Amino acid sequence: MPADPAALRLALAEDIATADPTLDPGWRDAVAAVPRELFLGSSVFRPADGGWQPVHRAETGEDEWLRMVYSDRTWVTQVGEKNAADATGPVSGSPTSSATLPSLVVRTAHLARLRPGQKVLEVGTGTGYSTAVLCHRLGPGNVVSIEYDADVAASASAHLKEAGCTPTLVVGDGLQGCKEYADYDAIIATCSVRSVPPSWFWQLNDGGSITTTICGWMLAAGLIRLVLDDEGTAHGRFTGDTITYMLARPHERPLAPVFFRLEGDTRRTRLDPGLLEEWAGRFVAQLAAPSAELLTTGSGIVLRDVATGSQAWTQPEGKGSTVHQHGPLRLWDQVEEALTRWQDAGAPALTEFGMTATPFDQKVWIGSPRGPSWRLPV
Ligand SMILES: C[S@@+](CC[C@H](N)C(=O)[O-])C[C@H]1O[C@@H](n2cnc3c(N)ncnc32)[C@H](O)[C@@H]1O
Repeated sequence: MPADPAALRLALAEDIATADPTLDPGWRDAVAAVPRELFLGSSVFRPADGGWQPVHRAETGEDEWLRMVYSDRTWVTQVGEKNAADATGPVSGSPTSSATLPSLVVRTAHLARLRPGQKVLEVGTGTGYSTAVLCHRLGPGNVVSIEYDADVAASASAHLKEAGCTPTLVVGDGLQGCKEYADYDAIIATCSVRSVPPSWFWQLNDGGSITTTICGWMLAAGLIRLVLDDEGTAHGRFTGDTITYMLARPHERPLAPVFFRLEGDTRRTRLDPGLLEEWAGRFVAQLAAPSAELLTTGSGIVLRDVATGSQAWTQPEGKGSTVHQHGPLRLWDQVEEALTRWQDAGAPALTEFGMTATPFDQKVWIGSPRGPSWRLPV
């Protein structure tokens, strides 16, 4: 029997609701209603051999395509500047746009506690799928969505039109918010940020919320909902979700030259560099060295500071590891000190972390605002 999109959609919605019994049924209904096939167009990329292989609807056959569309997975639609529809062979580079997996779209909307009638700014329209999900629940007149990439925005606009959905669409840098249609009850980002952009505070109603993933150049991420108080300070706690969205384009790492290991000062590490393989451990390391990128993990880690070129790399030796540090910053010292504070606090998971933020000063803390804390790069 040929695949039936409506049945596949309903099955996906049920699977998502079964996996997360706390999910507001309104979001399950939105997944059951929004035809995701309209948003994926005719081509996507799948990961292959360290790169990206285009998959075209015309080549898969309709049934296989619909099964892909209604699997709960993210489909990358653009890598670098290459759109999947234009790709004839494998492509290398980083994804720059995608259709987020439906369970994460609704998980984020649920976490944001959006209610019908509230006005929301979505940052990162992408394919328009999540925008359509928001429209289904909140009403299209209450949804403003902003996309950085003009070509991506144009496709999203066409997809939404085809789906009969009429949100307000804007092309621009969502890190500046969208003043024209402010104020909002909520801002929800489907791209990650290194810290919360000041404009988001200024474009929210009192008591409004920001739901976003805080990420950085070690690609460690935490999902959080922050609520703005009367004095303009936002407060919130991270969820335990081990998920992330791609970084907002202006928050991406600048291109760095090819990496060469330099000997530098050498010592034994006091802590296992393998802690950076753990979600919370890596998050703490990133807080401690916010302008450093993590180039490798596995049998030793490599950190490079994008601003100063400082580097730290470890290698297993005997029962422990040795670290080599070179440049003005002692990256491993910074990371090790932070990891020690985290371990002294009981090595908690991200659910024990919270954040207090103003446009000018943003701190991530463990336990309470009086606990161990680190400043985000604002
Ligand atoms: C993960 S995709 C969005 C997925 C989308 N919500 C969906 O369901 O199809 C992230 C999107 O954020 C966009 N983006 C990145 N930085 C941005 C910015 N500063 N302002 C607005 N959009 C941005 C990217 O171009 C990309 O399309």
